[in-house]
Amino acid sequence: MDFKSHMEKWNLLINNALGDYLTINDGPGSNINKAMKYSLMAGGKRLRPVLALAVCEMLEGDRNDVIPFACAIEMIHTYSLIHDDLPAMDNDDYRRGIPTNHKVYGEAMAILAGDALLNKAYELMLTYTAANSEGIKRKLEAMKIIADGAGAEGMIRGQVVDLESEGAVINREILEYMHKCKTGALIKAPVLSSALLSGASDKEYRLLENYAENIGLAFQIKDDIMDVKGSLEQMGKLSGSDAAAGKSTYVTLFGVEEAEVLLDNTVNSAVDALQSFGEKAWFLKELAEFIKNRCS
Ligand code: IPE
Ligand code: IPE
Ligand code: MG
Ligand code: MG
Ligand code: MG
Repeated sequence: MDFKSHMEKWNLLINNALGDYLTINDGPGSNINKAMKYSLMAGGKRLRPVLALAVCEMLEGDRNDVIPFACAIEMIHTYSLIHDDLPAMDNDDYRRGIPTNHKVYGEAMAILAGDALLNKAYELMLTYTAANSEGIKRKLEAMKIIADGAGAEGMIRGQVVDLESEGAVINREILEYMHKCKTGALIKAPVLSSALLSGASDKEYRLLENYAENIGLAFQIKDDIMDVKGSLEQMGKLSGSDAAAGKSTYVTLFGVEEAEVLLDNTVNSAVDALQSFGEKAWFLKELAEFIKNRCS
């Protein structure tokens, strides 16, 4: 099977699972379910859950164990996007090709929809773990990896550095730290949680960690470049948002051309990290190239 059909197959699987997990409870307050569903089911590349499934396949793990964790990470990611787009943060009007959550449901509901998706993510992982308690230590450790990646030392930390760097001149070290946290942490989480759930050896875990750190950084470098070069039609979000907000990005620090060279190097490092897996790592290697060449 080729890369594209693998992506499509896993996207479908994830979308079906997410749809099953999110129910609409009619009655007072049911707008919260609608607001959650609006952003979660709006599409998106599903890169994070796909990473979890790809690692599981490569390590010949049990996919059923990985799906709830993969979906939980996508919920956390979607919550981070809803909040990232709020007027108090990046103040963006489009996401995943449609108006942002707060543009449709209002700011208060968008905050609550994000909060609710975050809670749903943990409820989902805990419910699965309670009902499937064999290998419980690994499952709890996987949850901890996800909680760390999403929290004040992970994605949220990066968002804080991002906000504090608006209109400021920052150096490469801080920029890299910001990217590693705000984006890298939630890209590392599916790789490492799935590695644990799929029985990775210590060596395999370390190699996958190296891979994940590099694709995480590459992903945000490309995101910065697309904010300058991309279009709403391609990306599903408006370009020029970083410049309008005075953000510090790879483009403001290095310019587009140099940022593209750094992107290239980072993707190559990611691919190199997987060499000892041989042919089994074909999808993850192609995924690194996909991150470099994507238009959305
Ligand atoms: C966007 O993430 C936010 C960043 C971390 C750069 P994605 O580009 O993965 O967004 P979706 O999930 O495909 O919408
Ligand atoms: C967002 O980074 C990272 C998150 C934690 C959501 P950006 O602010 O650059 O993401 P986009 O460009 O709005 O998708
Ligand atoms: Mg942002
Ligand atoms: Mg943003
Ligand atoms: Mg961006």
